[in-house]
Amino acid sequence: METGFSIKVDGTGEEFSVVNDTLLGAALRQGMGFPYECNSGGCGSCMFEVVSGDVKELWPEAPGLSARARERGRRLACQCEPTSDCVIKVRLKSDYVPLHRPARVAATLVEARKLTHDLTEFCFQAPEPAAFLPGQFALLHLPGVEGARAYSMSNLPIDGGTWNFIIRHVPKGRGTGVLFTQLKTGDQIEIDGPYGLAYLRPESPRDIVCIGGGSGLSPMVSIVRAAVRDPRLANRKITFFYGARTPNDLCIEALLARDPLMAERATIIPAISTPTEGWQGDQGFIHEVMQQKLIQGFENYEFYCCGPPPMTDAIQRLLLLDKRVPAQQLHFDRFY
Ligand SMILES: Cc1cc2nc3c(=O)[nH]c(=O)nc-3n(C[C@H](O)[C@H](O)[C@H](O)COP(=O)(O)OP(=O)(O)OC[C@H]3O[C@@H](n4cnc5c(N)ncnc54)[C@H](O)[C@@H]3O)c2cc1C
Ligand code: FES
Repeated sequence: METGFSIKVDGTGEEFSVVNDTLLGAALRQGMGFPYECNSGGCGSCMFEVVSGDVKELWPEAPGLSARARERGRRLACQCEPTSDCVIKVRLKSDYVPLHRPARVAATLVEARKLTHDLTEFCFQAPEPAAFLPGQFALLHLPGVEGARAYSMSNLPIDGGTWNFIIRHVPKGRGTGVLFTQLKTGDQIEIDGPYGLAYLRPESPRDIVCIGGGSGLSPMVSIVRAAVRDPRLANRKITFFYGARTPNDLCIEALLARDPLMAERATIIPAISTPTEGWQGDQGFIHEVMQQKLIQGFENYEFYCCGPPPMTDAIQRLLLLDKRVPAQQLHFDRFY
């Protein structure tokens, strides 16, 4: 039998156990509101302090922890496993209590659908239902790759045990290298999820704006597909700003062919950032295009966005600082 370690959260009376798991994974699996964002070592949101006990760092070079923070006894909960019972300091927050507790499942690759020259939708099937909210992500443990990789689901949670991910092939990337060149249909991997707070809020009374593109497409597709079907959102306007570098990087026809309801119910505005001869649509960075197109006051929308940090940072600056949108109306994941 595997033995676990007990983790006490200093000054709170809260305690959880860890068996072959990261501190963050174990805390969330037990329903605790442990703060985090990327679960990938990039953002630093899961930083905690070791008061007593020992932990092993899975990725000591993780960019989310500075040398100074390490010297002061801080660690990243998503990149640490305890090697003894511990007392830690962290401020637990109810916002982070998972609505679906993450679980690890064995899933089989059943299809890889090419969408563009570098985007493919990978479809995995697990025996048990996939419980997640549209917009959330999971960790994929890939054979021969050190550390898990985070990918956002592109499908709807009603699809039984299906976990689909739209993934961009990163040149020289180790995880995407395995996904695009080694993994074959029938191969099995471990999927650990769901994670993330940038999920659809159907109870919000506002119209919906989704902003995504490139690798940030996946969760936006899941959110738009869920929103156009949700009876609670029948009177809401849904607008999807979909950005890419060139027309060759867009895959709008392929997405709509599989789910025509998206085009019937939502307004989809594709835009490219590199001037290209013959392109008749919008041009510019996707947040600039959004700024030109939205006609109501920005505070009247619920915003969802995903993509690399420079894109999400630009959107944050525009919406929170320039347009004074309340922070609770902006839901985003940065793809480190
Ligand atoms: C929340 C979130 C959701 C994401 N969703 C998507 C998506 O839907 N589609 C998509 O295309 N991309 C997505 N990404 C990006 C994705 O996780 C990878 O960063 C990207 O595919 C490049 O991975 P790679 O292994 O090919 O490249 P590499 O350069 O080999 O690895 C890059 C990433 O892997 C992680 N990493 C590297 N080394 C280690 C290690 N030793 N231990 C642990 N982790 C390590 C780091 O997060 C790093 O940023 C998402 C990222 C995050 C944080
Ligand atoms: S959640 Fe751990 S570094 Fe981002």
